[in-house]
Amino acid sequence: MANSSTKDVEGDDETNFGFRRVPKSEHAGLVSSVFESVADRYDIMNDLMSGGLHRLWKQALIDWINPRPGMRLVDVAGGTGDVTFRFLEHLDNTSDDDPENRATICDPNSAMLKVAQTKALDKGYVRGIDFVEAPAEDLPLENRSADVCTISFGLRNVTDRAAGLAEMHRILDFGGHFFCLEFSPAVAPVLAPLYETYSNRILPWLGEHVAGDREAYEYLVESIRRFPEPDSLTAEMKAAGFSNTQHRMMSGGIVAIHSGWRL
Ligand SMILES: C[S@@+](CC[C@H](N)C(=O)[O-])C[C@H]1O[C@@H](n2cnc3c(N)ncnc32)[C@H](O)[C@@H]1O
Repeated sequence: MANSSTKDVEGDDETNFGFRRVPKSEHAGLVSSVFESVADRYDIMNDLMSGGLHRLWKQALIDWINPRPGMRLVDVAGGTGDVTFRFLEHLDNTSDDDPENRATICDPNSAMLKVAQTKALDKGYVRGIDFVEAPAEDLPLENRSADVCTISFGLRNVTDRAAGLAEMHRILDFGGHFFCLEFSPAVAPVLAPLYETYSNRILPWLGEHVAGDREAYEYLVESIRRFPEPDSLTAEMKAAGFSNTQHRMMSGGIVAIHSGWRL
């Protein structure tokens, strides 16, 4: 569990990069180098690291979103596009083709976006998806231009979380729905010893031997421990303007889906 004395202090010009304190000005570059390094193997690593569970977690997110024709999705920290493709595939399977369906994948990392673009073409989505290279803190999108905004396994990488949440609130239309799917530090005590062993030994080993980057996966473990507990994140969402906030824990508290509305 993270020591609260080492969590970010507002106004401080340093922040956490995993367990290291680094100048805030360097944080985005360090995060970027992690995803640059793993982009090509990101999808396979996700399956391997989570034993495929990330698919269930993302499906639970899509079920909660309940995509409907005409909904405009903005998937912030969209990476290789997993959530966006699931959103569009759900619409393809449950409704007639609707040319109004649109999704935007935003991510500051060009290597991750490139993988998403290749996957979009492979899946036959030649139209209907915009790819925007931008961080959550500075979205080059119009006010109230989305009905749903998701950030999946992305918020813990955002340097200025308050600014990112405010931006995601700004781009949502009135009645728009925000979702954050993220690892949680609130793991059930009964799972904690196993989870600790997995996080401290197995994940970095997989990072080294499969992704060829041990440090990137050590960063992953450390950034999860640093992430706020569900109640603190709820408070941050409320401070950014979200209403009717709720969260659901999954897999013994390993991940949480947070929801909030722009009213
Ligand atoms: C773990 S991946 C998640 C990708 C995808 N959403 C998923 O669920 O598979 C995290 C993503 O966050 C992106 N990211 C890093 N810093 C960010 C920031 N400041 N704003 C938005 N996205 C950021 C990374 O480039 C990376 O693509």
